[in-house]
Amino acid sequence: MIPSLFKRFTTGDGQHTLGTWKLSVWFLRLCGTGESTKITVGLLVLLLASGVALLQPWPLKLVVDSVLGTHPPTTLLNNLTTVDSPLTTFFTNPKIALLFLLCVGILLIQVLMGGMTVMSTYILVAVGLRMVFRLRCRLFNHLQRLSLAFHDTTTVGDSLYRVTWDTYCVQSWFNSGIIPALTASFTLVGIGVIMLSLDWVLTLVALAIGIPLILLIRTLDQPMTTRSMKFHERESTISSRVQETLTGIRAVQAFGREQFESQRFQNHAHDSLMANLRLTILQSGSQAVVGLLLALGTTLVVWIGASRVLSGHLTVGDVVLLVSYVAMLYKPLETLAYTATTIQSAAASGRRVLALLEATPDVRDAPEAVGIPASSAYAISFENISFQYNNERPVLRNLSLEIPPDHCMAIVGPSGAGKTTLANLLLRFYDPTEGRILLNGHDIRHVTVQSLRDQVAIVLQEPVLFCSTIRENIAYGLPSASFEDIQSAAESAGAHRFISALPGGYDTEIGERGVMLSGGQRQRIAMARAFLKDAPILIMDEPTSALDTETEQQLLQALDRLMKGRTTIIIAHRLSTIRKAHRIMVLQDGQITEQGTHHELLQQGQGYARLYHTQFDNHPMPIGQG
Ligand SMILES: Nc1ncnc2c1ncn2[C@@H]1O[C@H](COP(=O)(O)OP(=O)(O)O)[C@@H](O)[C@H]1O
Ligand SMILES: [Mg+2]
Repeated sequence: MIPSLFKRFTTGDGQHTLGTWKLSVWFLRLCGTGESTKITVGLLVLLLASGVALLQPWPLKLVVDSVLGTHPPTTLLNNLTTVDSPLTTFFTNPKIALLFLLCVGILLIQVLMGGMTVMSTYILVAVGLRMVFRLRCRLFNHLQRLSLAFHDTTTVGDSLYRVTWDTYCVQSWFNSGIIPALTASFTLVGIGVIMLSLDWVLTLVALAIGIPLILLIRTLDQPMTTRSMKFHERESTISSRVQETLTGIRAVQAFGREQFESQRFQNHAHDSLMANLRLTILQSGSQAVVGLLLALGTTLVVWIGASRVLSGHLTVGDVVLLVSYVAMLYKPLETLAYTATTIQSAAASGRRVLALLEATPDVRDAPEAVGIPASSAYAISFENISFQYNNERPVLRNLSLEIPPDHCMAIVGPSGAGKTTLANLLLRFYDPTEGRILLNGHDIRHVTVQSLRDQVAIVLQEPVLFCSTIRENIAYGLPSASFEDIQSAAESAGAHRFISALPGGYDTEIGERGVMLSGGQRQRIAMARAFLKDAPILIMDEPTSALDTETEQQLLQALDRLMKGRTTIIIAHRLSTIRKAHRIMVLQDGQITEQGTHHELLQQGQGYARLYHTQFDNHPMPIGQG
């Protein structure tokens, strides 16, 4: 699990004090489970390839010393190219035979190296990509479980960027960071050993360049991280802007705000450009300094090496070998220098992913939580509930309410009174600041969230539809439902007629957020979904506000049947919707101001009565019960 040393998540800035190294190791262990065999094989092949690469300068050295020069070749080569060898049938001159052998050697080294590099890259990149896959799935899974309080304070675009792009950090660490660093270190050691055996003074001079290189890397570590973080934050702001504008595209176009949105987007895009530029300048500046250090090293080695040939301490072939190795020596040093940068910039992404991963849902199962004991109907009681969003002003104040099982409670009141909030608390989208909510006497904080939500079917004030067919949208809460059940739920919600009239019927694709449908049609599909779920508690938040009077009447008739044997809460603005309710509660400013049957409330002659008279003075509301 997430190590306890991480601090609690704070709204999206992702500032962690955790070191880059610990962070990357932690992530790689998290995502690399089950990959150790693949990693070992890939790494072995890669190291073998690096070993073969170290042989590269040898054929040339031997050509210079033993073919062109007079130095005798090694015993093995000598045996291969003189009297008894099959080569002598083709080449009478042993020097030409040796030359042929060495040329074949050059090609063979390349072929071996190429083949092994391709193989190891394939194995290791596949590992890296699978790590990204695992991290993404994990992050998405976590993200959709976070409480609404988290999502209220985080933009969708930001989370989108973290799931889509920041998750590549594990691949960067692995495939562009750790693996190249390992091979580079291996190569460095190999070259060092070979060079030391040839000339230790020269080797030490060449290696001395490593010290300022390492100092440079350490100095640039902090500014590089900061700039890289800034750049990622700007990029994520861009995706938030695009997301928000496109989601609200109707409003943008209807109010003619395209110019304004373009300008706003341009500002953010410009910020990102500048952040990227600042990062790039720092990177290329450091590359220039690295290049200069490398050139300095080469100069020293050429100087000393040539002097040693002049004084007769080294052969020409040795110098060829040394210069080749010096050239090869700087390559892994350079790799190590850039590896640090890669790891740093991946760490910026990693910290952003971690910030999401360690955000804990405010609403979660208590340690001893059990499933709520099943019942066909629940008594609901709100006991002294107070609640506020994000420490702002209180929305509900010391509210108490009893709803007996099988009853229908209507909640009316002006908008902003806290009606939807009450439903949010019952579903545990948020937990109350004070007080408790009981279902059949069980505190909903002591039962599992899943079992609680299983008991409730809700029609949200703003219907949420998914980009899929009507059939799948209705069956969203009960994917195993038969087509007959789906159809009869749609009939109850007064949706069957318009669905059948669509060219594709129940299999019609309704587009993102159901844009192909009217507000009332969306509402009815959302209602069919709730009916299909057939849960003991039914909550309807202003279900008829988007419906015409005729559809409303149809729906209310269906409700008669649906309410039987369930506890129902209807939140409504239109009083015609609540005529079937057993009791009515008036909510105002987060407090219950009136409560009773329709007749009782009319007799009290207060807010409810006034509301009733403004809505029904010409056509009195038909009252069924009360
Ligand atoms: N997610 C939220 N974050 C902060 N404040 C909210 C949130 N949702 C609602 N509110 C505020 O809480 C109050 C009650 O809202 P709500 O319960 O939706 O009212 P109603 O459904 O009665 O119209 C309003 O003042 C609203 O601005
Ligand atoms: Mg509401």
